[in-house]
Amino acid sequence: MQQVRISVGVVPLAQVDAPGERWAQGLLSAEERLRADRRVRDSSRREFTVAHALKRLMLSEATGADPHSLRFAPRDSYGKPMLLGEPELDFSLTHTAGAVACAVVTGGGPDSGVGIDLEAADRRITLDLADRFFAADETAWIRGQPQPEAAFLAVWTLKEAFVKAAGRGLALGLTLFSVRPPPGEGTDPQPAPLLRQDGDACLPHPVRLWQWVSPGGVSAGHRVGLALTGPVAATAEVTVRTGWPGLTRSGQGARIEQKG
Ligand SMILES: CC(C)(COP(=O)(O)OP(=O)(O)OC[C@H]1O[C@@H](n2cnc3c(N)ncnc32)[C@H](O)[C@@H]1OP(=O)(O)O)[C@@H](O)C(=O)NCCC(=O)NCCS
Repeated sequence: MQQVRISVGVVPLAQVDAPGERWAQGLLSAEERLRADRRVRDSSRREFTVAHALKRLMLSEATGADPHSLRFAPRDSYGKPMLLGEPELDFSLTHTAGAVACAVVTGGGPDSGVGIDLEAADRRITLDLADRFFAADETAWIRGQPQPEAAFLAVWTLKEAFVKAAGRGLALGLTLFSVRPPPGEGTDPQPAPLLRQDGDACLPHPVRLWQWVSPGGVSAGHRVGLALTGPVAATAEVTVRTGWPGLTRSGQGARIEQKG
């Protein structure tokens, strides 16, 4: 039976000091540094830098390759980045105010895809956004919850995670499919299936969705949505680590150590 592993790293940016950020900059390619420099706000440059350093560290851990040697290219015109030379591995990246995260899936074969999204759990939203962007069944569910704002963010992060796993981005159309956050929260999140998908959103494979709140950095933490798609019969093992990683050289590769 296939053994699918999803490794998730979440870094609250409050844990990254100035030397840590310089070290992260040193991991980026020239092109990634240029992209970081184009960002006007310091906080946005920092998010981008740490996210792409985390991506390189986690992919180095998964492949055994030197983090500097990894090369990327968009998969297609929708722009999902792929790691060159590793068709059986997929990853997803997200950066938001106060935290960044990366997810890497291995063992699911070339058709498996992963998507991750993060939002500050205390982010102020208006529920009108649900009416504008979500499917009708999702909007009704959100409005029926005891904490509709939290329910909105749970649905939002899952929908973004799904479009990123599918590799289509927001161009997919957010009303073409419906998600329902799995019940319960905590450190051992249970997966939920996609509730509905129509037309263009139809993927040939099952989709599994996870949702939880990652503590650290800001008081309310960050809400995380994670999606896995692919012809996967086995149960997927999800490992979540938080904190800014230290890098230990072992041969050509790198190992991420848990901190904080
Ligand atoms: C992919 C997308 C959903 C990201 O959402 P976001 O909340 O703005 O940003 P996040 O920080 O969560 O994710 C950004 C990362 O997603 C990844 N990404 C980009 N395109 C992607 C795609 N088609 N599928 C999966 N992941 C994608 C990249 O790694 C990107 O990081 P980078 O820009 O630093 O390289 C969104 O930007 C998108 O749909 N882009 C495609 C273009 C598009 O359709 N635009 C319409 C805008 S309404």
